[in-house]
Amino acid sequence: MSTSSAPPVWARTTFILAATGSAVGLGNIWKFPFITGEYGGAAFVLVYLACILAIGLPVFVAEVLIGRHTRKNPIGAIEQVARESGAPKAMNVIGLMGVLAGVLILSFYSMIAGWSLDYMLEMAKGTFDGISQADSEARFGNFIGDFDKVMLWHTVFMVISVSIIAAGVIKGLEKSLNIMMPMLVGILLLLVGYSMFSTGHFMEGVNYLFAFNPEAVTREALVKAMGHAFFTLSLGMGAIMTYGAYMPNENSITKTAFVVVCMDTAIALLAGMAIFPIVFAGGGEAAAGPGLMFIALPQAFGSMPGGAVWGTLFFLMVAFAALSSAISLVEPGVSWLTQKTGTSRKVVATGFGVVVWLLGILSVASFSHWSDVKFLAGTFFDNLDYLTSNIMLPLGGILVSIFVGWFVAKPILEEQLPELSPKAMSCWLFFVRVVAPVAIVLAVFVPLVMGFFE
Ligand code: PHE
Repeated sequence: MSTSSAPPVWARTTFILAATGSAVGLGNIWKFPFITGEYGGAAFVLVYLACILAIGLPVFVAEVLIGRHTRKNPIGAIEQVARESGAPKAMNVIGLMGVLAGVLILSFYSMIAGWSLDYMLEMAKGTFDGISQADSEARFGNFIGDFDKVMLWHTVFMVISVSIIAAGVIKGLEKSLNIMMPMLVGILLLLVGYSMFSTGHFMEGVNYLFAFNPEAVTREALVKAMGHAFFTLSLGMGAIMTYGAYMPNENSITKTAFVVVCMDTAIALLAGMAIFPIVFAGGGEAAAGPGLMFIALPQAFGSMPGGAVWGTLFFLMVAFAALSSAISLVEPGVSWLTQKTGTSRKVVATGFGVVVWLLGILSVASFSHWSDVKFLAGTFFDNLDYLTSNIMLPLGGILVSIFVGWFVAKPILEEQLPELSPKAMSCWLFFVRVVAPVAIVLAVFVPLVMGFFE
């Protein structure tokens, strides 16, 4: 039933671009800067880095090695490795849950990416020139409440994502990533330069981000750091596993993983250094939530000379970041169905696109027609966000680490990680077996259950 052609393998550097593209997204540009400021600046960054190194990096390596060993989609990959290692069949749930999580996340991710597309256009038109904070806020409220307009942008974003996926692993993903990722990094560096030389508030922004304030690192901050480490590295749903299947054998998994983790963190920090000085220059508050990127920042751009151009570039960068994450959200499912059924990529990608697009209606309507429909965590959008980020991804992460740490046969690990000495291998295994699952349970599930009873 599987396709007869050999699986595609990327050029040496493409995996780094692809995994960085997946990792760098709305999580880095929008979320990281404000949670860092909120939870104690440098002290929080240190906790976050510890989570990235102790949990993110080992689990990242675990996902890549399963993908590369099997050169299959996550569902097929877990099935094969479980069979080869004599692991329980129940482990197959990891792949299925990953595909589902990807579809669910993309349904609301696409909406927010669509907001950025609209903002890019409006920035270019000069809509925000000289606008007040209150008007910017009102404009945002009106815009997200405009069902038809947001649906249009959600549709545009989905069509672009599906076109890239449908064009294939080499012609679609590799080619587009080779263009998008250098553009993203280039624009970000330009924006940091702009913040540094043109806002007059650069140090204020840097101080806000890096001021060492240990008292602010509360228990809640620890939970946030841990959860974000997971989301930002795209772990727990098979995206990185799927990309691992396209990684050439001569790449060292551990070294590459380290590079990707560093890039992701550096981009998050640079995004903070670009955004805060601009917001401060506009007299805005470093307030939390969507407001920072869609209210304070556009108003700030509108108040500065040349702001329309810089603002347009900023939202173009956000669109690239979201797009390179979006393709990794749906590639696990697309590679699964093409490999399993032999159906053409174009048909499968379109099918997935339609499902995600339809599901997206739930999120888009959460700000308009169905804004009053609230249950459990809030609107449909709130529930999708909560279910995927707070439950499905961490659960996927625990299962992957338990699977790789406790069940996968040692020869498979040694074959995929030849660069590790026996000592280094034991050290990595300890993190995957014990540290990662225990930390995820303590940081994510204990508070979740406690919160439920509060
Ligand atoms: N890492 C992406 C971000 O920071 C989100 C994402 C999660 C992408 C899971 C793929 C898989 O925005």
